Amino acid sequence: MKIFLDTADIEEIRTAARWGVLDGVTTNPTLYAKVGGRYEDILTEICGITSGPVSAEVVAEDVEGMLREGRAFAKLAPNIVVKVPMSEEGLEAIFRFAEEGIKTNCTLIFTANQGLLAAKAGASLLSPFVGRLDDINQDGMEVIRELVTIIELHGIESEVLAASIRHPRHMTDAAMAGAHGATLPFKVLQQMVRHPLTDKGIVTFREDWTKARKAAEEKNAAQASGDGRGAQQADEKVEAITNKPGV
Ligand code: E4P
Repeated sequence: MKIFLDTADIEEIRTAARWGVLDGVTTNPTLYAKVGGRYEDILTEICGITSGPVSAEVVAEDVEGMLREGRAFAKLAPNIVVKVPMSEEGLEAIFRFAEEGIKTNCTLIFTANQGLLAAKAGASLLSPFVGRLDDINQDGMEVIRELVTIIELHGIESEVLAASIRHPRHMTDAAMAGAHGATLPFKVLQQMVRHPLTDKGIVTFREDWTKARKAAEEKNAAQASGDGRGAQQADEKVEAITNKPGV
């Protein structure tokens, strides 16, 4: 399953790339507003960090405007994917982009039917918004399940990119639903890395390592000086380390 970062923050993207888990990036006007600067410069920089798809969103509402903006984005780098909102105009733009060989990500998908239409029009990525559906008390993940089923059943080439991911459980559920990928905020990626027992385990292993080395040194010293009691005490210290629950 592909992991995309849903951000325009260069440092977050660099970090995920260093971790070896980054397959692409999605941006949108809201995410761009958080970082500022020139959108084109940010996109070009992101495309220099990842060779995976980088979504650049159009804001025009008419077809010609979408085409104009999208064509300009596509010239920035070969891995730019033009993000087009689901609408009648959006579908037409997606179809025209497909004819020109420009890849698209259809965004703001909230039903499987919308996803099906975007796929028919030629979008390479379909972005159903899970979190925003959950927000209005609908099951966002159900759209992922339905769309993945439709795509597989009919051998459609478009990929389902679960979007509007709010927490790690969304990622697990999207992966289990067969989503081809998911785009998530950096914060959720960090949450996926962490578990309190992992953190606790790292601290305990480090402490045990230090204690074990000290006990070994004490035992060596005791044996060298013929101190049998000291050597036994060192062994008892090692035993205390290994006789813990879970070891
Ligand atoms: C997807 O491409 C969108 O940028 C994004 O996932 C929207 O998420 P939000 O609902 O958290 O804004």
